[in-house]
Amino acid sequence: TPTQLTLLNVVDSTNQYLKERIGSLLNGDVCLAEAQTAGRGRRGRTWVSPYGASLYLSQFWQFAGGYQSIGGLSLAVGVAITQALETAGYQDVQLKWPNDIYAQGKKLAGVLIEVEGQMGSACDCIIGVGLNMALDMGSERIDQPWIDLATLNPDGFDRNRVSALLLDELTRCTELFSQAGLEPFLEQWRNRDVYRDKPISLIIGNKSVQGICKGIDKTGALLLEQQDGIQAYSGGEISVRAN
Ligand code: BTN
Repeated sequence: TPTQLTLLNVVDSTNQYLKERIGSLLNGDVCLAEAQTAGRGRRGRTWVSPYGASLYLSQFWQFAGGYQSIGGLSLAVGVAITQALETAGYQDVQLKWPNDIYAQGKKLAGVLIEVEGQMGSACDCIIGVGLNMALDMGSERIDQPWIDLATLNPDGFDRNRVSALLLDELTRCTELFSQAGLEPFLEQWRNRDVYRDKPISLIIGNKSVQGICKGIDKTGALLLEQQDGIQAYSGGEISVRAN
């Protein structure tokens, strides 16, 4: 059976659209929209999603290995996005742990992975990608420094080509991840690490810890050098800031 590509004009959230149809989805099925009325970001935030200004895309994948097998998935997806952008001519795109895509020190794209399934069995993942393309309308509502492809490439960019490349890389990388885990992505992720060897703060709930960023370990955990040595941090509720 061929995979399904659902193209929508307006939707609440492409992640939500797939989530409501999980039982009938195949690996690689995609939903893509021109605008979202309730776009979701990480940690319960809103993803500002004005019409035609960005790419809003979600893809479904089931992982037979369950929760314990998808640890580094968001990092692999980050690598997929930077590879697609590199092929499209955007060389200097970087990654911010765990899954933000940065250019010129500002956020270019974000990834939201939503997971369903019981412990000990296969899990269903909705991989959502929001990539800023030409985002001037509505952008004053965004609560962090952002950049878009139009700014990076004032000569114009090809929306269809970037979308196609992104879908292609996302599919390829997710398949590779499901077979080989994070290992084949580690080197590329490390090469693009925006905070490597820089002082950062980790915000964990209402606590914050400071240290020097030492990249990621083989499970995808963030390595932070503190007074008493290097410690690994993992988990979806951590956010990172430059000091
Ligand atoms: C982040 O907070 O950085 C993650 C943002 C993810 C946004 C994308 S847009 C397509 C998909 N649908 C959603 O509702 N969110 C993701």
